[in-house]
This record gives sequence, structure tokens and C-alpha cells, in this order.
Amino acid sequence: LSNTGSSGSSRDLVEVLKKNNKNTVLFYGSQTGTAEDYASKLLKELASRFGLKCLTADLADYDYDTLDTISNDVLVFFLMATYGEGEPTDNAVEFYDYLQNDADQLATLKYTVFGLGNSTYEFYNAIGKNVFEKLESLGSESFAPYGEGDDGKGTMDEDFLAWKEKVFDALKNDLNFEEHDLTYEPAIEIIPMDKDVNDETVSYGEPSAKYLDPTYNASRGPFDHSHPYIAPIATTTELFHSKDRSCVHAEFDISGSNLRYSTGDHLAIWPSNSDENIKLFAKAFNVESKLNDVFKIKALDSTYSIPFHTPITYGAVIRHHLEISGAISRQFLSSIANFSPSPEIKKEVTKLANDKLLFAKEVTSQQLDVADLLLKLSNGQPWTQIPFEFVIETIPHLQARYYSISSSSLTEKTSIHVTAVVEAETHHNKKVGGVVTNLLKNLEIEQNNEKSEPFLHYDLKGPRGKFSNFKLPVHVRRSTFKLPSNPSIPIILIGPGTGIAPMRGFVRERVTLKKNDPSVTIGETFVFYGCRTRDEDYLYKNEWPEYAKALGDSFQMEVAFSREDPTKKVYVQDKLLAHQLKLNELLDKGAYIYVCGDASRMARDVQKTLGSILAKGRNITEEKAAELIRSFKVQNRYQEDVW
Ligand code: 2AM
Repeated sequence: LSNTGSSGSSRDLVEVLKKNNKNTVLFYGSQTGTAEDYASKLLKELASRFGLKCLTADLADYDYDTLDTISNDVLVFFLMATYGEGEPTDNAVEFYDYLQNDADQLATLKYTVFGLGNSTYEFYNAIGKNVFEKLESLGSESFAPYGEGDDGKGTMDEDFLAWKEKVFDALKNDLNFEEHDLTYEPAIEIIPMDKDVNDETVSYGEPSAKYLDPTYNASRGPFDHSHPYIAPIATTTELFHSKDRSCVHAEFDISGSNLRYSTGDHLAIWPSNSDENIKLFAKAFNVESKLNDVFKIKALDSTYSIPFHTPITYGAVIRHHLEISGAISRQFLSSIANFSPSPEIKKEVTKLANDKLLFAKEVTSQQLDVADLLLKLSNGQPWTQIPFEFVIETIPHLQARYYSISSSSLTEKTSIHVTAVVEAETHHNKKVGGVVTNLLKNLEIEQNNEKSEPFLHYDLKGPRGKFSNFKLPVHVRRSTFKLPSNPSIPIILIGPGTGIAPMRGFVRERVTLKKNDPSVTIGETFVFYGCRTRDEDYLYKNEWPEYAKALGDSFQMEVAFSREDPTKKVYVQDKLLAHQLKLNELLDKGAYIYVCGDASRMARDVQKTLGSILAKGRNITEEKAAELIRSFKVQNRYQEDVW
């Protein structure tokens, strides 16, 4: 842990506010960057519209023992994401713990909370709700109502805007702030530098500043989201290939590093943008001729933390630091209206920004990214009035993507496997697809000297050739998806599609346990897998017979092929039902259940099916069975790794 906040030298919030003359704090508990992005957007609006002097704050950057002395003139916003099974995000763990266990009275705290959650999970927005209620019970006063957004229904942006309106109403009507028009006030200034792009001191998008230090030993950790390991990719294999999809199995070599993992963890992989997307983005924002120009950034506000290492080039910022192919929000559109190339376009932009239905029809449902939309509105002409300072401050920054690790740390001590399905689609003549998966696919084609063209092209050499020989920045995130410590306990593994990834890790672990000590008792392993057809997308098809041989009678696998019989879909649930006697027998023996894959339908359907199986087997009502499953979850006998 660093002992300084991002906004200066202190972890004492009250001191930082005073020293920097701030009266508003926007705390974020963020895992994938959404809450952080909302915080910085809200900051801009509060500053410009209401003249508030704001600070965004990573919850991990502060201590909370002086929070009870905060002035009641300060407004404190909490933007709190809920993660996994109702857990706080990594950066909010300590704050959450403080609130539950150490906080006493917080009578001078004026606050409001927006929760970011996903209603396909059981503990929807548990953290946001809890923080709001807990603060209330500690005597704090909420100046605006609690709000929450739902990623599951895809309404997060709109939910946030609706809540923001309520906050603005409270500021005007209850707190008597005057409202002004939104104008852009930069927090940073770009200072051009007369340096060559190849100068060793110039960042070319290194994932952490340490990599620019020639004396830095790149194998030394600790590695985390602020400092990933640039891992060599030992091998990549195509597991299957069909018309619009393919699957890459990649093996990262961690032998030269201190990076460690345990079976069931997640691997964070840092993406970069494709040449195709960079080109369009640079055109829209009128920096096509500047991609190799070097600049540094001066913060105009002492509390603004510069988000990447400088000096840097425009090209490196776009390639390695900006999320350029994500969805656009109405909020973003309002903020660019003033930079429109013409009054007519400004009118058009404002109309789109203010009309929820029109925006949904013209932008969201067309899956336009920011470059697409700007160029569409301007008939292909660059927007010359948008300062690049605005781009850096407003476009969200690229975040790592997480993959369930498909190797076992017992079997593969120096290598981490991931299994990535590559979706490649064309919308309005433009190629779109996942940033990491398409990058891996490009790499797989190059690494294996395949003849085919990648769907999208990436710079595989990376910062000044540092990723040549196939490397990508990664770090490990611990998960709670873990085998029972006693290997004699039976396990039921349910993972259709890429949900099979961690199950492969678990099975490999048991095979190695058996191989290392043939006298050890290994409990039954029952795998339920699902894919479209046996010839199209059956993952690791050749490996399963080997595992069956190694584990003998204790191993069983059922595969549901959903598209073999055109008259009838067969899903893993159907296979579960077909084996309900056996499943009840295993559950009576204390079996653990693991589910991985799609959260919105599959995991729910599976849980329901298991409920009916338990109800029948134990002769109890469906309600009782559902309760039983919930208690299994609490005891970690029912574990989910779903997305
Ligand atoms: P489908 O695409 O043919 O509908 C991996 O994605 C496998 O999971 C596919 O065979 C897919 O079938 C199947 N699948 C889709 N929806 C599912 C659900 N609700 N429950 C279980 N499996 C599902």
C-alpha cells in the first residue's frame, strides 16, 4: 500500500480537502473502471454547473479515522460498485470494513450514494445500499436520495443520469446552489515537447512507469493492476474455428517472474487498440498527423492525478490508454456539443443528448463507438475544435479484461492458461470485436505462421519492441472459486461454453494429485459441459479421454450439444436432470457444486434445476430446496464464477 493519496502527500481526507481548498469529494469503489469514470464525469459537471470545488478519490487512497471531523460544508459522494457475490470492489474493502466495524458517529458527514450493480446476480447492489443505510444509522445526513444502476438490464448510463438529475435538483432546491451552463474547464494542459518518439525517456504506452526505468528488474513484483507483468506467451493454439467465432488457448510463461496464482484464480490481461480503430479515432479527433508527436501533461489542478506516464505520444495514448471502442453515453454527447464543427451539428448533438429514445435508436442499438458517431454526424470530417486535453480527461481509460484461468497451479507451476472465444462481427461495414480476444487471435496467427488474415490488426511488438516475441501485460486476481481442500470430497462441475475453463484447471489438479500419490483418495468428479455441436466448438475435446483414463471410475462427463438436433435444444440442465439420482447421491456425500459461464440465463437456470433435483431427492418443497442451495452458497459448497 502506498502511504500517500493520489491527490497529494496525505491519506487524511480532511487535511487534503483543507489544503487544496475543496468542498466536494467523489469517492469511487471501482473494479472495472465504470464507477471511476462516472466520478470524473460528475466532477466536471459539478464544477462547471455549480461551481463546486471537487476532488475524485480512490477509496483505497485514504484512511478514515478522521472522517468524524469532516466539515458539514463538504458534500461527499460515494459511487459504489458491487462485485461478485455482494462483495465490495478490491479498492473499497478497507473502507467497507471501517464502516462496518470501526466507524462510530459520523454526524457531520453530508453524503449521497450511487450503487453500480448487476441484477442478474443474487446480491444486487448490496454494497451501495449498505453504505447508504449504514451512514444513515451513523447519524450522517444524506443531501440527495440513494440511486442505483443496473448493468444486467443494460440501463446503467440511463440510471446514472436519472439519479444525477435528482442530485442536481437537491443542489438547486435544498442547498440553494445556482446552476450554470456546462462548459469545459480543463484540469490539464498539454505541453508539446521537441523529442523523438524513439527517445528512451518517452513512454510508448508502457503499462507502468517502472518499465521506463532502465535499471528496473522486470521479473520482480508485486504485480497488480497498477503494475502488471509483461508476460511472454509461450504457445497459442486454435481450439476451434467456425464462420463467425474461434477460440484461442494461450499459455503465458511466468517462469521468469515472481507472479503466482492458484487454481481457480483470474488472469487480468491488458488490451491495446487495433490499428483499424486507432485510425478512425485519430481521424475523428483530428490528430492523424500527430500520432508520433511527443508531449507532457501539466496538471492545472493540484488534485488531478495524471493517468499515465509522460512524456508520451498521441499514438501511444490512443493505442494503450483510451477505451476507444466502448459504448457512448448521452452524458458524453452533452459534453462535446460545444465543440461541434457547425451550429447545425451542435443542434443535432444536443437533440441526441437530450432525447433518451432517439439516442437509444440512433446510437446504442447501432452499437456506434465514439469515432463512428462523430464522423457520422460530421459526414466524415474531423472535429477540429475538441482539445486533446478533453479527450484524455473524458474518454474512459483502458482497463484489464479478466479471464478464468484454465490451468492448475499444481500441474502448471510456471505457466498460466486461458481460453478465449473470439467473436468477430461487422456492423455497418466496420469490424468490431473484443479487444483482448482479437489481439490474442492476431497473435496466434502470427505466432503459428498461419496463412489467414486476422480480423483486426494490432501492434504485436508493443512499446518500443518490448512485447516482441509475443508478450502481454498481465496480473493475477485472487478468486474465491476454489476446490475443497480435502480431495476426497466429490465435485460437480458445470461449465458450458468457455465456462469450462476453470473446470479444466480443477480436473488437471486432481489428475496431478493422483499422479503424484496414487494412494490418495480422489472423490468423484462429475463434469457437465455444453457446446453447439461435437464438431464445431467442443473445447479440449482430445484432453477429456486422458483425464478419464487418469482418474478412472471416479471421473464422469456429460456433454449437452445444443445444436445437433434441430428440433430440440439440449442444455447442461437437461443432462443434470437425466442424472438426478447420481447427483443426489453425490450431494448426500457432501459434494461441492461449481458453476461457471453466463450469469444472465445459464447460471440461473442451472440453480433452478439443481433446486428441483434436491427437492425431489430429499422429498422437500422447492422453496426449502432453494433455501438449501442458498445455505450451500454461504458454506462455499456452491460456488459460482459467472459473468
Ligand atoms: P445455444 O447457443 O445453442 O443456445 C455454450 O454457449 C453453450 O451453452 C451453447 O451450447 C449454448 O446453446 C448453451 N446455452 C445457451 N443458453 C443456455 C442456458 N440458458 N442454459 C444452459 N446452456 C445454455
